[in-house]
Amino acid sequence: MNILAIESSCDETCAAIVRDGRQVLSDVVFSQIDIHRLYGGVVPEIASRSHTEHIVTVMDEALRQAGLTKGDIDAVAVANGAGLVGALLVGVSAAKAFAYSMGVPLIAVSHIRAHVAANYITYPELTPPFVCLVVSGGHTMLIEQSDYINSRVLMETADDAAGEAFDKCARVLGLGYPGGVAIDSRSGFGKPDIEFFKHASIIRGGSFSYSGLKTAVINYLNSAKQRGEDVNIDDVCASFTRHAIEPLVHFGVMSARAVGKLAVAGGVSANSYLRRRLMIECEKAGISLYLPKLRYCTDNAAMVGSLAYFYHQAGEGIADLTLNAEPNKL
Ligand code: KG4
Ligand code: ZN
Repeated sequence: MNILAIESSCDETCAAIVRDGRQVLSDVVFSQIDIHRLYGGVVPEIASRSHTEHIVTVMDEALRQAGLTKGDIDAVAVANGAGLVGALLVGVSAAKAFAYSMGVPLIAVSHIRAHVAANYITYPELTPPFVCLVVSGGHTMLIEQSDYINSRVLMETADDAAGEAFDKCARVLGLGYPGGVAIDSRSGFGKPDIEFFKHASIIRGGSFSYSGLKTAVINYLNSAKQRGEDVNIDDVCASFTRHAIEPLVHFGVMSARAVGKLAVAGGVSANSYLRRRLMIECEKAGISLYLPKLRYCTDNAAMVGSLAYFYHQAGEGIADLTLNAEPNKL
């Protein structure tokens, strides 16, 4: 079954064609990073306009790269949330137009759950149940994926998401947008030995809590300035990363012990420190670790096409032309 999938939740216009949930025939991403970089972050109105300008070209390119025509597509899938409402609406409208004009089913999935499916593409042998650490710009959750459709939240963030903390910290350090990648690359040159606060501060009442980390970094920078001391930005990045990531590693490994399988999903799963630390700790604990290929960590449509296939098999997620964007969809 060939699914044409669309993802437009934030600053990337994406279309992909996925066969039977695991085989990516094409995967096209038009990134708006250069546009938003001028403003230091994503400007929602500009994102929507850019999606409108590029969506048709990106869909055509997905067909061209797969060597298929519109008639070869069996269903169209779209992530109709979570994300920026105006941005999501562009993908939803394009998917509805395709479904209507070609007479194929329309499947709506959650962008966050689709991140989990990035693992099905990278690991054709991976099947539920497993535990997944979902770490993106808007979400930080540990979930138990019991089958392809159903999952249960084990732990989540009480405030900011991990990716958001990376982006905010990068802004404070003057590293610009997108922040996560900038901090990741600077961290490699730094020593992770600054104590902003104890690791326990990332955990509050059984939840992750990232809102204090940015303040702790600002306080550190201000006190160094008052004392006339130089700050080594690479060391700050490496130390911030350790503070942000270690609790994810700890609780991820702990939660996956029983089932023996830990997957990771979302933009922060591209972080090199997280990937390295999880490889070490999962090996020690005898847990099989699943890390999506870097290309499938951040937003893409292939993951949407993968999840949509499993939804279709289960008779779930079938939408009609009243489908709307759901900015807070989980
Ligand atoms: O999943 P994603 O592409 O979009 C959302 O659904 O939010 O995740 C984007 C987030 C951003 O906060 C970005 O800073 C973070 O993922 N990110 C990273 C890295 N690459 C992207 N964070 C840390 N290290 C990275 N290498
Ligand atoms: Zn995402």
